[in-house]
Amino acid sequence: MLADTAKILSTYGDGFMLRTDSDNKIQEFCKYSNIPVINGLSPSSHPTQILSDVFTVEELKKKPISKLNVSWIGDCNNVLNSLIAASVKFSFHLSVGCPKNYKPKKFVLDWVKKNKRYINIFHDPKKAVKNADVIFSDKVISLNDRVDINHKIKEFKKFKIDEKLLNSAKKNVIFLHCLPRGNEVTDKVFLGKKSHVWQQAANRVHVQKSILLYCFDKLR
Ligand code: NVA
Repeated sequence: MLADTAKILSTYGDGFMLRTDSDNKIQEFCKYSNIPVINGLSPSSHPTQILSDVFTVEELKKKPISKLNVSWIGDCNNVLNSLIAASVKFSFHLSVGCPKNYKPKKFVLDWVKKNKRYINIFHDPKKAVKNADVIFSDKVISLNDRVDINHKIKEFKKFKIDEKLLNSAKKNVIFLHCLPRGNEVTDKVFLGKKSHVWQQAANRVHVQKSILLYCFDKLR
């Protein structure tokens, strides 16, 4: 039983990171753990990735994210849900470009509304990146996706990020991607000058350390 595992693992260390295929498992684990539990990825959220990405954006752009236009092109998945949560928390402008049948889930949009914020959803990627300072993307097929893979990939064909799309954003736009990548972005963009994916990946370790300090009340 997960409850027993949580109790045992609580005696093995000071903190625990759980990457799981079920949101309920995280809730259940927290209930029985007496050490901090960090959500390391669930089907509906990826908060550690996004905390780190907010840091990377501010590091690169040298200004608060609240002053920037952020765009997400691709699947409305766990990483986007956490980016949406961050847009509410840190008050930044967020535009999402996705196919009609793959919009963010209703409970996510309801939560945004409840918090008196708004996100723009476009089904034309060009419109979604207009005036963007930052473009994010992620794989079309996530770890916990139980879908017809070929069909879903076809549905996202016109959302592939290429140089032409990048040129529809601001001149100094930056491209970020949490990795691993699939075919949602061309090599030219992913490995190009506007892409900062390696710095983004490197920052994960530093922000993760801050999250641990926060859990142990050691953050200055
Ligand atoms: N959306 C991706 C994120 C990987 C870091 C997944 O869940 O597989």
